[in-house]
Amino acid sequence: MRRRLSGRYRQMALMVCLGTLVLAVATRAQQAPAPAATLVPVAASSLLLHPDLYLGRTVSVFGTVEQNLSATTFSMDQDAKKPAMSDLLIVAPTLNAQPKAGTYMTVVGVAMRFDQADIQKRGRNYTLDLAPNVSERYRGQIMVFATSVVDPGMVDLAKVLPTPMTPEEGAFDKVMKQVNPTNAELRKGVEGSDKAMTTAQALTLRKLFGETKTFFEKRGTADAVAWASEGVELMAAIEKAASAGNWTGAQESVAKVTPLCQQCHAAHRERQDDGTFRVKK
Ligand code: HEC
Repeated sequence: MRRRLSGRYRQMALMVCLGTLVLAVATRAQQAPAPAATLVPVAASSLLLHPDLYLGRTVSVFGTVEQNLSATTFSMDQDAKKPAMSDLLIVAPTLNAQPKAGTYMTVVGVAMRFDQADIQKRGRNYTLDLAPNVSERYRGQIMVFATSVVDPGMVDLAKVLPTPMTPEEGAFDKVMKQVNPTNAELRKGVEGSDKAMTTAQALTLRKLFGETKTFFEKRGTADAVAWASEGVELMAAIEKAASAGNWTGAQESVAKVTPLCQQCHAAHRERQDDGTFRVKK
């Protein structure tokens, strides 16, 4: 009995301690501002009401679209039905589709005061496209320099889209898509000492490396031209070795192919956000 009681006392004491701790942490969380790096969720109306609380912070603003002001800017309001005193300017340099007026949006970006020079500094390749009289209306007001503009269907209208490939890049992409399976088949041919298969694949890969070489010659990319030329030479060596039945020689040459692929990819291949590959600019 005495044991159980003391056990209970201890439990109670612990709970009181924990409670105090939780309270203390909660009070501190209320007092201390969140670190600047965290995303602060806020309604468009609150941002307009208390700009100083949010300046310089990365915010996630929700509200309805009031009006498209230019190809990369629009205004936002907390409630389209209640006319607001002022509206919130959103500048989204990468906006690729205009949001529909009246739709509910979530915008992520940095809260700042409207200042043309400051906008220019943040968006290095961006030129603000607001009409001068509209600019004048927002001067000095809080606005959001946005990196995401998410519509109700979860589509980010400010997502950076890859620039379309040039016809040459498109043709080269097809070459690379063929290089991969051909190389795999070539390896199988050599491993199996299969003369017909090895010769056929080496011939195809020689042609593909030749096209790769031409592509990079036109772009003036010297190291890539050298790797592609090495590929052409290796294919000639493999063909020769296969027809002479020199499979050790063929294997030695085949082992030198993958490092070529890797070196050139490391230097000149770029992975896009959508997982596809491009030639580096
Ligand atoms: C001289 C440079 C060079 C060499 C050598 C090279 N590549 Fe590439 N490859 C590239 C570049 C640049 C890209 C990106 C362009 C693209 O995919 O449109 C690429 C893309 C690819 C892709 C992705 C294609 C796609 O879009 O899905 C594959 C797969 C590939 N290479 C395989 C190979 C293999 C396997 C080898 C060696 C047998 C090889 N490459 C050798 C330059 C090279």
